[in-house]
Amino acid sequence: MKLLVTGGAGFIGSNFVRYWLAKYPGDYVVNFDVLTYSGNLENLAEIQNNPRYSFIKGDLRNMADVEAAMSGVDIVVHFAAETHVDRSLFAAGDFITSNILGTQILCEAAAKHHVTRFHYISTDEVYGELPLNSTQKFTQDTPFDPRNQYSASKASAEHFVRAYYHTHHLPITITNCTNNFGPYQHPEKFIPLFITNLLQGKKVPIYGDGLNIRDWLYVVDHCRAVDLVIRKGVIGKSYLVGAQHKEISNLELTHKLLKLLGKDDSSIEFVTDRPAHDHRYAVDWSKIAALGWQPEHDLDTWLAATVDWYKTHRDWWQRVKSGDYLKYYDRVYGHRS
Ligand code: DAU
Repeated sequence: MKLLVTGGAGFIGSNFVRYWLAKYPGDYVVNFDVLTYSGNLENLAEIQNNPRYSFIKGDLRNMADVEAAMSGVDIVVHFAAETHVDRSLFAAGDFITSNILGTQILCEAAAKHHVTRFHYISTDEVYGELPLNSTQKFTQDTPFDPRNQYSASKASAEHFVRAYYHTHHLPITITNCTNNFGPYQHPEKFIPLFITNLLQGKKVPIYGDGLNIRDWLYVVDHCRAVDLVIRKGVIGKSYLVGAQHKEISNLELTHKLLKLLGKDDSSIEFVTDRPAHDHRYAVDWSKIAALGWQPEHDLDTWLAATVDWYKTHRDWWQRVKSGDYLKYYDRVYGHRS
């Protein structure tokens, strides 16, 4: 089997490439990535010479690049996206071209090449937000209600993926996953930002009152979910993927990180809230559970493992947190404190 993984140099994509090569010794993986600020081939350094792996630097917005990569491909797994909400507020155009146009071009090429599966990595954010202090959860039937430029672009792309299923019989499946954490996550995101700031002796910027709730899934569990849906999912359907029903507030999560890093509340800085900050995400993942999936990695153990990973990979994140990152940090946080 030959897989085309888009965005394979990113956080979840690189974890998925490693996972797939280890699990399926007969398969070949092509990593297609344009290498923007969040795509980093260092994430895959240990497999770069694997004869079952190859890398193509290409842009999803360019049909010629995509067509060239599609040759002989059986399965497309589409991770590539602009993913950071804060960036989407000031760079919406990049989210429209990469996430929507890029997805449409990929669908077009995949349909033309008659791939046997096109799996789209979506997000629970397409469903909007849930109230705090409620037990409601998103399901596959929850109407889309994206509330920021990132989630609007992912929702739009998801509509295009379904349109190609209906009009071109593209054999699609979709997963809508909750927040991920683990090794190689870019330090613009909450968990790696807070870990690395604390390792640098800096404060951690909590948006608003810190009471917003997320449900954190270890990245390998997400890879397992995508794998299962590719093997056993029903064509044309989407599957919600969530964690172990232990939703916690950003403040509670911060306290866990402070404890793991030997710091106290004096390292916290409450800053101006993110505009339209979604209050709570929670997903009902019973549909994928019926296929035989459940999370295997608990938050406490794997958060500690993730902290250890950032402690032992200082070179990786110090390189990432330099150059343009510093300009980004100033732009997002400069006016918040
Ligand atoms: O739910 C899945 C989504 O999770 C993915 O589709 C997105 O690509 C991913 O970015 C993530 O979205 P969030 O906005 O939830 O993730 P982020 O790590 O940016 O923020 C997590 C929470 O922490 C959120 O409530 C905002 C808050 N936060 C974040 C940052 C970066 C802070 O309080 N301070 C911060 O500096």
